[in-house]
Amino acid sequence: MTFKNKCAFVAGAGGGMGLAIARALIEKGCRVGMADLKPEPEGIGGGADGHIYFEGDLSDQAFVERAVNATADRFGGLDFLVNTAGVLWLDRDKSVTDMDMDVWDRVMAINLKSFALTARYAVPHMKANGGGAMVHFSSIDATGGDAPAQDAYGASKAAVIRLTKSLAIQFAGDGIRSNVILPGPTMSPMQERWHDDDDAQARVAGFVPLGRLATVDDMADACLFLLSDQARYITGVELPVDGGITARV
Ligand SMILES: NC(=O)c1ccc[n+]([C@@H]2O[C@H](COP(=O)([O-])OP(=O)(O)OC[C@H]3O[C@@H](n4cnc5c(N)ncnc54)[C@H](O)[C@@H]3O)[C@@H](O)[C@H]2O)c1
Repeated sequence: MTFKNKCAFVAGAGGGMGLAIARALIEKGCRVGMADLKPEPEGIGGGADGHIYFEGDLSDQAFVERAVNATADRFGGLDFLVNTAGVLWLDRDKSVTDMDMDVWDRVMAINLKSFALTARYAVPHMKANGGGAMVHFSSIDATGGDAPAQDAYGASKAAVIRLTKSLAIQFAGDGIRSNVILPGPTMSPMQERWHDDDDAQARVAGFVPLGRLATVDDMADACLFLLSDQARYITGVELPVDGGITARV
């Protein structure tokens, strides 16, 4: 898998999976535009020639337009887009029958609209380059119902799958691929509640046929494969990276 002298935009790059993916790409010689609400994490690597970081709200159209275009301008085009930004607000995201619908709107804006916005501004650069690849992050939570419910999260993640496929079909003729990863439970800042709780980790791992929670590097490896030329004939695919959870009857 070679990413040398290619350019990627990673949305949600201050978080667990986004940062792992950005670091893995930089290590392989890719130049990476990174964006997140959080300030720039320390020790990203690659130096000023390897990455550029934008702190801001990815549901804000003007911010996304500026960040994607500035990345392409700085590094001479754009080959890859990775969408990992997301929120799982267990305390506020509940059943549609009793949640605050402002929370619904905000979750949709972050988990879905931000993906649409990054694609909107990345596609013209990929077309100008003669092709490209995108990987979007949904969740195995998109595949079924849940009780207690996180209805906005689940619906936003299901919509990401549909958007991924639409982008795959719309831009296949331009040499642009679009695939979606459905992670299973993964140790990252999003799942902070498990970090100091060995019992909870063991309980969750007990649901996973491979017997452990995922790491952010498990996700980065799958993501880099889908971005790479090794996946050149794969587009419009939803890939569970879940240790076998969704394979169980
Ligand atoms: N961790 C898991 O168990 C798990 C499981 C299934 C799916 N996922 C999905 O994978 C993706 C990555 O998850 P993660 O575990 O790395 O989570 P994370 O919380 O570590 O990272 C998500 C990042 O998104 C950023 N973000 C949130 N709102 C934003 C906004 N408005 N503008 C800019 N940035 C914003 C956060 O600051 C955070 O850095 C998410 O979309 C998540 O829903 C995670």
